[in-house]
Amino acid sequence: MPNPSILILPGDGIGPEVMAEVRKVIDWFGANRDVNFDVIEDLVGGISYDTHGTPLTDAAMEQAQKVDAVLLGAVGGPKYDKLDFAMKPERGLLRLRKEMDLFANLRPAQCFDALADFSSLKRDVVAGLDIVIVRELTSGVYFGEPRGIMEEGNERVGINTQRYTESEIDRVARSAFELAMRRNRKLCSMEKSNVMESGVLWREVVTEVAKDYPEVELTHMLADNGAMQLVRKPKQFDVIVTDNLFGDMLSDAAAMLTGSLGMLPSASLGAPMENGRPKALYEPVHGSAPDIAGQGKANPIACILSFAMALRYSFDRGDDALALEGAVEAVLAQGVRTADLLGEEGREPVSTSEMGDAIIAALGTA
Ligand code: IPM
Ligand code: MG
Repeated sequence: MPNPSILILPGDGIGPEVMAEVRKVIDWFGANRDVNFDVIEDLVGGISYDTHGTPLTDAAMEQAQKVDAVLLGAVGGPKYDKLDFAMKPERGLLRLRKEMDLFANLRPAQCFDALADFSSLKRDVVAGLDIVIVRELTSGVYFGEPRGIMEEGNERVGINTQRYTESEIDRVARSAFELAMRRNRKLCSMEKSNVMESGVLWREVVTEVAKDYPEVELTHMLADNGAMQLVRKPKQFDVIVTDNLFGDMLSDAAAMLTGSLGMLPSASLGAPMENGRPKALYEPVHGSAPDIAGQGKANPIACILSFAMALRYSFDRGDDALALEGAVEAVLAQGVRTADLLGEEGREPVSTSEMGDAIIAALGTA
């Protein structure tokens, strides 16, 4: 059996810093477990544009199609705001998602007990929270045609198109039901079927798919109410499935319930490859945070937990994923905090690499 392969794309801003900590974790697994990962590294986003004149080269795209898993740091920064739309750093990420056909984006929002007081919501609303948003990632208004800024009479009009085929809804719904089966068998589907035809079709198809999963309790909610319920009583949910744009917004809201965006990993999964594992890209939910880039202040936990998701979904190493997640929890319980996790507490924050080292140390005893 060849070694499992990983393509690392650190990207922009804090991406390279947090990814350096993931490299340490990968090395720890190489040294302490019966697995050696073949790791290659390439560019994505603004750094790729600076170096090659494109946010993602064809060569990097080709590598991404070949490896068992892609790990991505973050893309974007103010330096690139004025670039042509097609050259923006974000286009590199969107190309990966689209060409790898990563239609199911799993975004867990889990509140670590040690951080429950850090959420902007009351402790009892968020303590113990453990939900997953399954966001459709390759269609909807992000990719629908027609799109563009056109001339109409004597003014311009900006156009994007929300578009979903039945098969696109069907496959992401199935991913969400499968996940619900492995968890608490509760799924809530969110759309705007009161105003959007795509929402009407979404609800119909999800209801149809539910017939194949009779053990899962399916509910439907309008996405605006969903946003409110997420903040009002988030623990009523277990798995949520929704479209690309609603998923983008709802997952940011859900992220804040947990205290810090710096904590949340994600997995973007596609169809199974020859080895039976899905095509996959793992990335933190947070962005490139250009304001703190290069200062050793970033929290590497979201990126490290993204690697834990890779262990679980791409490498069939669920026990190792649990060990890594346990190490993160242990470090937080010890009171180790990067600056984003300190709030009003008068403690000294640790640096990005000190947080990585603490997690490695906790793994050593895991
Ligand atoms: C996300 C981000 C991206 C998105 C951007 C960077 C293109 O906000 O992954 O949530 O809108 O999907
Ligand atoms: Mg987003």
